[in-house]
Amino acid sequence: MKSFISGLPKVELHLHLEGTLEPELMFILAERNNVTLPYSSIESLKAAYQFHDLQAFLDLYYQGALVLQTEQDFYDLTYAYLERCKEQHIIHTEVFFDPQIHTQTGTPFDVVAEGITRALKDGEANLGISSGLIMCFQRDLSEEDAIETLKQSIAYKDDIVAVGLDSSELGNPPEKFERVFAMARNAGLKTVAHAGEEGSADYIWGAIEALHVDRIDHGVRCTDEPKLVQYLIEHQIPLTVCPLSNVQLNVFGEMTQHNIVELLKQGVLVTINSDDPAYFGGYLNDNYLTVAEAFGLTKQEVARFSENAIMASFLSVERKQRLQ
Ligand code: HPA
Ligand code: ZN
Repeated sequence: MKSFISGLPKVELHLHLEGTLEPELMFILAERNNVTLPYSSIESLKAAYQFHDLQAFLDLYYQGALVLQTEQDFYDLTYAYLERCKEQHIIHTEVFFDPQIHTQTGTPFDVVAEGITRALKDGEANLGISSGLIMCFQRDLSEEDAIETLKQSIAYKDDIVAVGLDSSELGNPPEKFERVFAMARNAGLKTVAHAGEEGSADYIWGAIEALHVDRIDHGVRCTDEPKLVQYLIEHQIPLTVCPLSNVQLNVFGEMTQHNIVELLKQGVLVTINSDDPAYFGGYLNDNYLTVAEAFGLTKQEVARFSENAIMASFLSVERKQRLQ
């Protein structure tokens, strides 16, 4: 199974670039930029990666991202992830970035966007990995901040395929961002949103009805409401599920309790993704393998996840047909 998964051409649809910041690179960038980290060694940093919930993770994730300051830092981060993609046989990836983490602490939007887009172009030219860039709004910040961020992104209209919504879910429902998502759709962008990770099924309904999203990120709480599961099946709205992340953040106690296979068997368009692999202990192949082993999946069932990801991607119809 391990070699079958490694050799399977895969597409990743839920990956935060800032969540690929490995401890080793974090220390290199901290030194490069004269940032003092509250850890004396890589080992003590890794030892701090014990999260009881989403907020505990986000606190460390935002702190870690502060070492990213120059265009070259963003380039190095992004290119290192694309090299991992090559190793993992990921042929196409649609990646999130969180511009507000950086603009809030004084790094200009352009520095972030230039470094990332330059690496994505080099990754396609040198490694043969195609990509899409998704700009996330932080849902714990204001609608006004999100609108300002959308305005800053207009110069990169040709490089950004979609907007998304992430960060602390509870208390920050999708409806808060109804207007900025409408603005993004009017500008020709696709839309996705994290919903139903820690938040209830109502957050998933909100993402569908108020934000009109093309995909739901996580969405695993949908099983609390059978009517919602039926809706996802009927409309084939994709869920980008992140198994190792869900177990690390206690969304599920252990992998055997995860509902991803139940959803697959019911006909929901579910996909497997790695979310923040540097923090959750595994890249895409590890996520596939952990699910396959926990549920004793056949190769055919495992391959369905990768077929679903092709279908759920923002690739052109022609490219999807060629890949299937
Ligand atoms: N959920 C919400 N926000 C995030 C996540 C996540 O899994 N990863 C990075 N930002
Ligand atoms: Zn995520």
